[in-house]
Amino acid sequence: MIDLHCHLLPGIDDGSKDMETALRLAKEAVKNGITHALLTPHHMNGVYINHKSDVIRLTEKFQKEITDAGIELAVFPGQEVRINGNLLQSLDDDDILFADEGNKYLMLEFPDDDVPTYTTDMIYQLQMRGIVPIIVHPERNTKIMKHPELLFDLLAKGCISQITASSYVGTFGEKVETFTRQLIQAGQAYIFASDTHDLPGRKYEMNEAFKKMTVEFNKKLADEFKENAKFIINGDIVVPHTIQSVVGVSKKKKFGLF
Ligand SMILES: [Fe+2]
Repeated sequence: MIDLHCHLLPGIDDGSKDMETALRLAKEAVKNGITHALLTPHHMNGVYINHKSDVIRLTEKFQKEITDAGIELAVFPGQEVRINGNLLQSLDDDDILFADEGNKYLMLEFPDDDVPTYTTDMIYQLQMRGIVPIIVHPERNTKIMKHPELLFDLLAKGCISQITASSYVGTFGEKVETFTRQLIQAGQAYIFASDTHDLPGRKYEMNEAFKKMTVEFNKKLADEFKENAKFIINGDIVVPHTIQSVVGVSKKKKFGLF
């Protein structure tokens, strides 16, 4: 299993506080069935800046520690990039890490409670550069929860969405869990990731999420989610879903008569 979003790298954001914690989480990841993990420290979120060269260097160091500890986990450098006005400049400066080596898939985060007004324009600019934005955990964004059409529009334009496994399992409460299920049902979800932080009450729930998906939906969809993660890290094409309606809004009937 591939995990495309986690905060394992020690001491650089609100993830693992030290190497010991990072190694413990790496062990938990393997126990949860994860074989490959993209390390995605926050970048440009107003609190944390984690430059590309630093993340690459720290990931190499962490991989060595993982291997020395006998943990069978392959880690890759990444970033969880907050949408911001300097993003295009940072791309020009080669300070952005993608989920894949070919610089196609960008793990893009919004503020927890907002989808900035310039988002559509920024997404267009990114797409003009051949980038496919992956909107991380839209199911936890309070503005998207209130206005699911915002996500619908971004997906219709060719973005991809990453759902946090714990959201689907119910760790963030029933509201988030229900919205997550609705997004999956509506074809508006593409992959699960752990978004692991070393926080109380947070643990790896990837396996649990996939088990639940197999019961509530089917194994085919769970397999598709796993395949999509592989396509993304390899820079291959993820087949876009046909999405027909905004979550929570029933399709308009012809003439509105029936
Ligand atoms: Fe994250």
